[in-house]
Amino acid sequence: MRIIGTGSARPSKVVTNSMLENFLDTSDEWIVTRTGIHERRVISSENLEDLAATAARNAMENAGITSEDVDFIICSNVVNEYVTPGLGCVIQGMIGATCPTMDINCACTGFIYALDVAEAYLATKKDMRNILIVCAEEPARMMNWHDRSSCILFGDAAGAVVVTKGDDLKAIRVSTHCKVEALYQKRKLQPTPFITKEEVDTEGVVMNGQDVFKLAVSSSIKDIDKVLTMAGMTADEIDLYVLHQANVRIIESIRHFVNQDKSKFPFNLDRYGNTSSASIPALLDDLNRGNQLKTGEMLLLSAFGAGFTTGACILRWSM
Ligand code: COA
Repeated sequence: MRIIGTGSARPSKVVTNSMLENFLDTSDEWIVTRTGIHERRVISSENLEDLAATAARNAMENAGITSEDVDFIICSNVVNEYVTPGLGCVIQGMIGATCPTMDINCACTGFIYALDVAEAYLATKKDMRNILIVCAEEPARMMNWHDRSSCILFGDAAGAVVVTKGDDLKAIRVSTHCKVEALYQKRKLQPTPFITKEEVDTEGVVMNGQDVFKLAVSSSIKDIDKVLTMAGMTADEIDLYVLHQANVRIIESIRHFVNQDKSKFPFNLDRYGNTSSASIPALLDDLNRGNQLKTGEMLLLSAFGAGFTTGACILRWSM
């Protein structure tokens, strides 16, 4: 597998920490110190599918292909206004593609899972040339905006890549350890005349921040160790660690474990917050368009999220 194009799109509404001070018992100082986040983008008038289609078009343009060249679309998404069909179907129509689409919900780890699926498809399906991966997320719509410990963390975004056959993927690992209670949201479904059980609506995400923090650090460290071993590489041989943008303190803990310089850890969490599975592909797009990725560089990607899902991979940048 080889990445040949990247794209991203973000909502226009900037929500700063001081804007949150207007309705939450919080402060810019607390949020910056505990998370590294200064502001995030939150959907106001946009539709998530518009952001997703823009990110997809940007990635196709960057790859030098059109929608006719796309053979499969993988869409990573947790929540959007459509319960059905899958967001991938909506994106397919918007970009004028005719290929099959598949949605996955692996929370913030979705991009790594999507890469794993893409690698398997490219390796086993003869006619498969280009796969479009679109990660489109609006976690802001899942939050209880009275819960200061969770709503301050998230922002909305879409990130996309086009992948084709190649041998840039040196190692990949995904895993799931059922820990629903650490981070979840339950909602009531449509009532029927037959329902007798009691149903729960948590009215937003329920998160044990400290548990998630510990799980995030311990699982990422394990994943990174494993993919380095799988690729026969050392931490020093990685040029950039493109990590899920959740909390600067999580990134710092991982950085200390691999004992690498800060300059190897690109970062945009301060401006966008945690955008779930869109965080890594959108960061890759920022780096790609900012000419911060050099051909031949080795990147280590690592993410974690509700589930508890985790994943990491090592890939060579060859654009
Ligand atoms: N502003 C001000 N105070 C806040 C606050 C906010 N936004 N959110 C929580 N607090 C308070 C708490 O109420 C608590 O007060 P108390 O000591 O009087 O009870 C205090 O700050 C410390 O809370 P704690 O939960 O121990 O803080 P923390 O250092 O663990 O930071 C998180 C909280 C959520 C930032 C941190 O746990 C975290 O980032 N966890 C990972 C979450 C994550 O990444 N989720 C997505 C995974 S994909």
